[in-house]
Amino acid sequence: MTTYTAPLTGKIVVVPGGTGNVGEGIVRAFLTSGATVVVPSRSPQRLDTLTQLIGPELAANLKGVNAPYGTFDEARDLAARIAAEYGRVDHVVASVGGWWMGKALWDTSETEWQKYFIDTTTSHMALARAFIPRLAPDGSYTVIAGFSGHKPYPAAGIVSMHGAALLMMREVLSAELRGQRRVNDLMLGPVINRSRPGGDPNWLTADQVGEAAVALTRTPELTGERVVLDTVDDLKRELGRMNT
Ligand SMILES: NC(=O)c1ccc[n+]([C@@H]2O[C@H](COP(=O)([O-])OP(=O)(O)OC[C@H]3O[C@@H](n4cnc5c(N)ncnc54)[C@H](OP(=O)(O)O)[C@@H]3O)[C@@H](O)[C@H]2O)c1
Repeated sequence: MTTYTAPLTGKIVVVPGGTGNVGEGIVRAFLTSGATVVVPSRSPQRLDTLTQLIGPELAANLKGVNAPYGTFDEARDLAARIAAEYGRVDHVVASVGGWWMGKALWDTSETEWQKYFIDTTTSHMALARAFIPRLAPDGSYTVIAGFSGHKPYPAAGIVSMHGAALLMMREVLSAELRGQRRVNDLMLGPVINRSRPGGDPNWLTADQVGEAAVALTRTPELTGERVVLDTVDDLKRELGRMNT
């Protein structure tokens, strides 16, 4: 496993979606770097599973919060609760949502639209508006996004549409913040993870996504950036311009 030379000891990093396939690698990387990692989740079972996957040594600094953030009010309450309990929020890495495919747009039901576009997009918006005003002055907000937001995926149209909304949300936030807080996105290709343990050796693993998220967080010069991580070669290139 990668060891990081500049520890993030004392930093509070919030990872919504940390229970997920990609989120697990992000959580592990920040814990390895010395940070305290707060993971909100709708499910105590998923928090327990994450703790087991992370292991007892690193999990000492993993703080699960069983709370939803699917509405503006829920996310506001969550951010207030975390800020009150830990005294600060240094970094947020939002890895919320997942994959769905199987139907052309004209066959997509309203239930699917609600679940894979409205709910996930609203959660991201709710998190951004709740946490960005609470970030430490040198803090950062990172959106985990996928290539499907940039490239149309037939039969996964509502996930592509959600991804496009997410990428534009990040761009608007960067334009509105004008450098007052750092907001970036990591735009990922397919990721090898616990649910998909095999794949092209050029694909990143969830742990490598975490490595990139930590490095991005520790590089104050990077703001308003889209960091494209389609392959391991992309990761090597990007780490070369970040503090690792
Ligand atoms: N997996 C890949 O290969 C891949 C590739 C490219 C990009 N990405 C991006 O990485 C991010 C995470 O993907 P993933 O594969 O890790 O997904 P995942 O395993 O399904 O995890 C999704 C996480 O999002 C949280 N979440 C909160 N509200 C949600 C909602 N309304 N609907 C669905 N999930 C919700 C879940 O938390 P709780 O259930 O604990 O509350 C869960 O931890 C997404 O933005 C995705 O586009 C993934």
